[in-house]
Amino acid sequence: MIRSLLWPIKNKMSERDVLEKAGGGFSDIDELIGGTAAKSGIPDADRPDEDIVAGSQNAPSGFYTRTQERHDSGEMPLVLPPGQLVRPWPPEDQRADILLPYKRLRDFVMDFLNAHPDESFCFLDRGKLREKARILSRHFIPDDPRRKVAYAVKANPRNSIIHTLAEEGIGDFDCASIEEIKRVRKVCPDAWILFNNPVKSASAIRVASGMNVRHYTAQTPLEVQKISQNIWPPEEISNTEIVSRLKTSNDFAAIDLSSKFGAPPEEVVRMIRLIRDRIGATAGISIHAGTQNVSGQSFADAIRLMGEVAERAGGVDIFNVGGGIPVNYSSSDKYDFKDYVEVISRAINTYLVDVLKGRSGSKEQMIAIEPGRAIVAEAVDLIIPIMAVEEGDNPAVYFNDGIYTSFIDHAVHKWTYNFETMRKDGLPHRGRKKLYTLFGRTCDSGDTLGEVMLPEDIREGDYIWVSSAGAYMDSLANPFHDFKPPKYIIYN
Ligand SMILES: Cc1ncc(COP(=O)(O)O)c(C=O)c1O
Repeated sequence: MIRSLLWPIKNKMSERDVLEKAGGGFSDIDELIGGTAAKSGIPDADRPDEDIVAGSQNAPSGFYTRTQERHDSGEMPLVLPPGQLVRPWPPEDQRADILLPYKRLRDFVMDFLNAHPDESFCFLDRGKLREKARILSRHFIPDDPRRKVAYAVKANPRNSIIHTLAEEGIGDFDCASIEEIKRVRKVCPDAWILFNNPVKSASAIRVASGMNVRHYTAQTPLEVQKISQNIWPPEEISNTEIVSRLKTSNDFAAIDLSSKFGAPPEEVVRMIRLIRDRIGATAGISIHAGTQNVSGQSFADAIRLMGEVAERAGGVDIFNVGGGIPVNYSSSDKYDFKDYVEVISRAINTYLVDVLKGRSGSKEQMIAIEPGRAIVAEAVDLIIPIMAVEEGDNPAVYFNDGIYTSFIDHAVHKWTYNFETMRKDGLPHRGRKKLYTLFGRTCDSGDTLGEVMLPEDIREGDYIWVSSAGAYMDSLANPFHDFKPPKYIIYN
C-alpha cells in the first residue's frame, strides 16, 4: 500500500530530503519509508492512484522515474534508481502519479508524449498551486487571526494536491463526503475539516463525528436536528459548529449552486436560534456565490446579506464565504485571483467583523473562505492525442478522452473549454482553422463535444491541449468502457 507522501509532513522533512533519500539506492518503498511511517502510525492511503515518493533531481531531460503505482493487487510499489527510464508504462489498470524533477512543462513534455503517444496526460505544476496558496496567505489570512482558508477537496481530491497545499499552510479542508474526509485525515491527520454538504445522511454524520469532525453545514431546521441527534459521542455537541447555508444570488456564476442549496434569510435566522439557543452548538452562516462567479460585486453583495442576516439573528461565531472565484479558461479571460481575494477580504471587513465580535460569546470565532476551482484549475494542463481525423462533408476529429471522462461538465453544464492544438513533433499547426465536430472515444453518440475550430492541417497523432484542466475534470470522470482518467504527471 502507498504511504509515501504522508511521512514527510509528519516528520517535517522537505521534499528535497525525500528525493535525496530516494536517490540513495533504495529499491523498495518500505525501505524508503522504512519504519518512519510505520512508527508514526500513519495509515496507508487507499486511493491507489495517489501519492508520489520521488523522482531524481539529476535525471536527464525526458527521463523519469516511476515511483508509485496502483496496488489493488497488494503488490509492492517500486522506487527506481535515479534517472531510470520506465518503459513500458505500468499496465493499463494501474493509474500512477509520477513526480518529475523539472520546473517547466516544456522541458519534458515532448519526450514524455513521444514515449507514450496514445495516452492522455494531466500535467500538474505544483508551483502554480503554491502560488495560489501564497496569495491566500498574504492577502486573506493576515488581516485577522480568525480567518481560515479551507481547500474544497471536491475540486480535485488527489493526495498530492492536498499535500502540497498543506505544506504551504493551507491545512483546513472542505469535504462533502466520508470518502473525502478519510482521504484528508490520511494525508493531514490533524486538519480542521468542514463537512459542508448541506444535506447529509444520519450515518455520514455519525461516521464523520467519530472521525473528530466538528464542523457541519445544514440548510433546514430538520438537517440541523439530524446533525444534533447524530453527533458522536453526543456530549460533543457543545464543541460542534453548525453553520446554516444562506441562499444568495448566483447570477454571475457559470453554475448556479443556489438553485439547489441554501435557505432564505428568515429561515436562516430561525436555524441560528435553534443551533445556538436550543441545541447549544456554535452557530454560523455560510454562502456560496456560485462557481466561476466573475462579478466581484456579487461576492460583496452576498457577504453584505450574510452580515445583515447575522445581525437579525443576534450575531454568530462563524462566517463561511464559500468558493466561487473564477479561473482563466481562455486566453481572453483576465480574472485575477488576487483581486477577487481582496474584494472578498474588504467585504468581510466591512460587513462581517462587527457582527462576529463577541455577540454569542464563543471563544472560537472563524471567518472561512473555501475555494476549490480557483486553487487547482490553472495548475493542470491536459494533453490528449488525436485518434482519427475525417475530412469531407462532415469533418470530424476523435480524441482519446471525452464526455464520460474529463468533459462531463460539458454535457451537464454546457461548460466550454479552450482547445489548443500541437503537432506530434511539438510544433504549432500552420493551417487555417475550420469547424470540426469533436468526438470522444466511447461508443455512445452522446460523447460529442460539438463543433470546434481546429487547424485544417490537424492529423492523427497530433494533440489537443486543454489548459486550466485541474478542477472538477478528474473528480467527475467515470469508468465507462473501463477507460481510465488521464494519468497525472507532477512536476515542479
Ligand atoms: C460548500 C462549497 N464550498 C466550496 C465549493 C468550491 O467552489 P469553487 O470550486 O467554485 O471554488 C463548493 C463547490 O461546489 C461548495 O459546494
